[in-house]
Amino acid sequence: MNRTNRQIVLAALPEGRLGPEHFRLTEAAVPTPGDGEVLLKALYVSLDAANRAWMQGATYRSALKAGDVMAGGALAEVVESRAPGLAAGDLVFADTGWRDYVALPARHLTALARIEPLTHLISVYGIAGLTAYFGLLECGRPKAGETVVVSAAAGSVGSLVGQIARIKGCRVVGIAGGAAKCVLLTSELGFDAAVDYKAGDVRRLLRAACPDGIDVYFDNVGGEVLEACLFNMATHGRVACCGAVSQYDGAAPPHGPRGVPGLIVTKRLTLTGFVVMDFHDKRDTALAELKSWVESGQLKVREDVIDGLENLPAALVGLLAGDNVGKRMVKVV
Ligand SMILES: NC(=O)c1ccc[n+]([C@@H]2O[C@H](COP(=O)([O-])OP(=O)(O)OC[C@H]3O[C@@H](n4cnc5c(N)ncnc54)[C@H](OP(=O)(O)O)[C@@H]3O)[C@@H](O)[C@H]2O)c1
Repeated sequence: MNRTNRQIVLAALPEGRLGPEHFRLTEAAVPTPGDGEVLLKALYVSLDAANRAWMQGATYRSALKAGDVMAGGALAEVVESRAPGLAAGDLVFADTGWRDYVALPARHLTALARIEPLTHLISVYGIAGLTAYFGLLECGRPKAGETVVVSAAAGSVGSLVGQIARIKGCRVVGIAGGAAKCVLLTSELGFDAAVDYKAGDVRRLLRAACPDGIDVYFDNVGGEVLEACLFNMATHGRVACCGAVSQYDGAAPPHGPRGVPGLIVTKRLTLTGFVVMDFHDKRDTALAELKSWVESGQLKVREDVIDGLENLPAALVGLLAGDNVGKRMVKVV
């Protein structure tokens, strides 16, 4: 086989902010699959805020070390199969890492039906869509007429959360960085209002945007934005704790959100943490509903596709800086 297997190695663990200097592009042999394995070619690598969190320590997966091929999920095609149930040409979503080719045990993989555009298998029908769906509906449990707030609202998970909440009849307020993202939320994605967390006192801006308080807060960012939301929660409000992207890239924050636990007590709040895999048994139902909303035009899918495996480091650094709108991914060309 005369193929190149480029791979991007995490050359050094960042102590402060992540930069392109923490990565190195190398080449390796294309692996030969063993019994029960398949050889995969990555097509689209998913860029996730969690990629940075994996450098901080063990999460729901083990921590990354310097010298590891950078971890990451990808939509991949089976090139060669030595396992029953998967054949050349099948599509899977797999933890391929940042490289062209990898051999993995087939028992860890599930074939995906081929759809157009393929990118939707990473965005709305991938982890982002399922995270938005389950986090909002199972943990936030919004009712029609309630006020739902979501942070990182122009990102991949957040942009879907807000639209699903609208479909469910809620009033939706998005929190995002910068005026352009806020305009996008209200003019293109149907949000009722948007708050620019970089434009001043978020707590005060939220109070103006949510005069009756927040019934459901979908938290993607943690930190000061979470604190501002806690102060604006309505009695018996629910917080779906999805992630904490404000804490991933850099030194540990000086303090946690103020008002904890006092606000949780007096407002009778429920904070529910979740990982998307918790709801695996309900995946098919969720995908069917997401598909019906996409096909009816109720759910708009924003994707941010960058060409070239070599651009993965810059794409992740940019995601953490808020350069993306919607689901960021890299097409492996
Ligand atoms: N629990 C789960 O199972 C699960 C699964 C998938 C993802 N997640 C979580 O979902 C969240 C969104 O991740 P994603 O991969 O979809 O990324 P994303 O939302 O598409 O992109 C990350 C966004 O975070 C915002 N951001 C960056 N630094 C911030 C800061 N200091 N304060 C506030 N916002 C900041 C940026 O937008 P702005 O321009 O608005 O700052 C950026 O666009 C993350 O917390 C991730 O860990 C959880």
